[in-house]
This record gives sequence, structure tokens and C-alpha cells, in this order.
Amino acid sequence: MAVRLDELAVPVIAAPMAGGASTPELVAAVNRAGGLGFLAAGYRSAPAMAEQIALVRKSSDRPYGVNLFVPSPPGDRAAVAAYRERLQPEAERWGVTLPEESGQPDRDDWEAKLAVLLADPVPVVSYTFGLPTAEEASALRAAGTLQVGTVTTPEEARAAQAVGMDALCVQGPEAGGHRGTHRVADVPGEVPLLRLLPAVREVTGLPLVAAGGLGDGAAVAAALRAGAVAVQLGTALLRSDESGASAAHRAALTELPETTVTRAFTGRPARGLRNAFIDRHGPYAPPAYPEVHHLTAPLRAAATRREDTEAMHLWAGTAHHLARSGPAEAIVTDLWRSAQG
Ligand SMILES: Cc1cc2nc3c(=O)[nH]c(=O)nc-3n(C[C@H](O)[C@H](O)[C@H](O)COP(=O)(O)O)c2cc1C
Repeated sequence: MAVRLDELAVPVIAAPMAGGASTPELVAAVNRAGGLGFLAAGYRSAPAMAEQIALVRKSSDRPYGVNLFVPSPPGDRAAVAAYRERLQPEAERWGVTLPEESGQPDRDDWEAKLAVLLADPVPVVSYTFGLPTAEEASALRAAGTLQVGTVTTPEEARAAQAVGMDALCVQGPEAGGHRGTHRVADVPGEVPLLRLLPAVREVTGLPLVAAGGLGDGAAVAAALRAGAVAVQLGTALLRSDESGASAAHRAALTELPETTVTRAFTGRPARGLRNAFIDRHGPYAPPAYPEVHHLTAPLRAAATRREDTEAMHLWAGTAHHLARSGPAEAIVTDLWRSAQG
């Protein structure tokens, strides 16, 4: 099932959204619209990823993608411990226990996921937070999988081409969720998507997918004019019927006024709706991923249970106020019609 990103019937890719927003139903709905659906394997075990792949295969015979988090080197334990101290009063207030650092590196089941994807290949795999080794990429290529590397700078684009990526997802600073920045401690780039695309084009001839802040037809058309063969939409699909986003997250997308980039929740820079938790703790969060993700997990779970949008992580791109509700198939179809109009 060879797939080319420059030959999609509708050049719209559903962004993989880990943490529950991406569902097999969302993949199938975007596929029905003629786009490319994506599963998010981040935070899932390899068997859980395989289960989701099986569900997609049952509901769609079109190509789809699976996104992987590339593991990062361990963060500074003392800095994580200091952040834990800082969050302690917050934890006491809400009656939650902050986990102690396990000392075990968390590689997001990377090796096991690659083994599953080699044994039972899928049409497309994309990577964020870094790149596979050239050997890993070459094994997946031999299995017939098209591979997409997420990049946020021309330098990362060069590295992605060097390890054998077939296409690049160029993620601008407008993007909702984590920046795909390859090194955890790097300050993420601020060159806007429409200028980043031509800058990346200067260093590579690979097909480019544009991601970040694309919320209406005009924005999609502009990204395609700037050199992308397709666009990757995350926030625009968060309020769709098939999204797994929580009710509080959906409501906040229209209610909260602005987004900001913060390490407060996970240790990696991510764009989310600005709230009190970010304002209080963001400046003190160390660049340690996924250690900070695990540290804040019970705080975030408690905030989600009480639907407290001032303490939840509410990933959203800059165009969040344009996100529509309704079936994802209609959202993609209308957006593409308006982009062509
Ligand atoms: C809730 C949410 C979760 C995300 N999770 C992932 C992920 O698991 N893997 C990934 O590569 N990108 C992830 N992203 C980033 C998207 O791939 C994409 O870059 C971004 O959504 C584009 O910007 P937009 O949200 O303004 O459309 C996520 C984005 C959001 C909003």
C-alpha cells in the first residue's frame, strides 16, 4: 500500500495527538474525507499501539499513519527534584501525591514499537522529539513504510534527510501541543510557519508537510503556496465529534483567550491555552522530559477530574478560536473547499 504525501486526494493530514485526542474513529473520518488519518502512539505501550492499528484497519481501507515519540536522554535529577518541591503545596492543596523519580529511563516503549511496526508494517510512520537512527529508518523503509520526520528548524531538516526520512513535517511555532524540537533543552524556534517552510526548502528537496496554526481555508492555501504538499491539522480537529478531547478541553478552546508555550506540564515546550498553572510554574520548569510529564501527571489528572481549566494542560494552537465542532469528515471537506475557493 505505497502512499505518497504529494498525491493525497485531499492534502490534509490529521495531526497525531497523543494523550487521547487522536482516536481510530478520527483516523477513519479524516480518511473518508480523502485526507490521511494518524494514530498517536506516544504514551502508549507497544501492545496498546497495535490494538489501535487493528481498530483502524477494521474501519478504513485507506492509508494511515502512526506517530512515535523518539526517546530523549535523561534530564537533570536535581532540577526535577527542585521542581517537585515547588509543586508540593499545589499537590497538598488537591490531596495528590507527587511521584518520586523512578530513576528508570522512560523510552516510551520505543524498541518494542519499532519491532511491532517492522513485523506488521503500516503505510506511514512519523517521528517527533527527534529521529530514529539511520539503521532503524532503513529497516522501516525496507518494510515499505513511508517515514516523516518532524522538524522545527532547517538544521533539524538536514538531520532528518541525513537519516533517510522520505518527507518532513515542518512544525511552526504556532502549533498546538509539544514542539517537535529534537533536543529537549533547545529554545524552540520562533520563525513563523510561512517563513520556516521556504527556509527548510533551501536545505532539502524532500516533500514538506506544513503544521501549526492552520485553522481556516485561507491559512491552508497559504501554507500550500509556501511550498508544502499537504497540511497537518491538530487543533482544528480537537472539537470534532470523533476527537477524544475532554469536554473541558473542547469548551476551553473557545472560552480561554490566548495560548502560550510552556514547559510547566511536561518539561518540553508545548503550546497550550494560557492559565494560572502555566503563569505560576512555567518559568521554573526544568527541561527534563518525560520526567516532568510524570511528575505533574497526578496534578493534571486531578485537575481534569474537577474540570479545572486553570490547572489542566490544554494543548492548543494559535488558531484555537477557529476550531469547529461537528463530524471531522465535514470539517476537513469544508476546510479544503474553502482553501480552494
Ligand atoms: C492535543 C495535541 C496533541 C498533540 N500530540 C502530538 C503527538 O502525539 N505527536 C506529534 O507529532 N505531534 C503532536 N501534536 C502536534 C501536531 O502534530 C501538530 O504539529 C499541531 O497540532 C499543529 O498545530 P495546530 O494544532 O495549530 O494545527 C499535538 C497537538 C495537539 C494540539
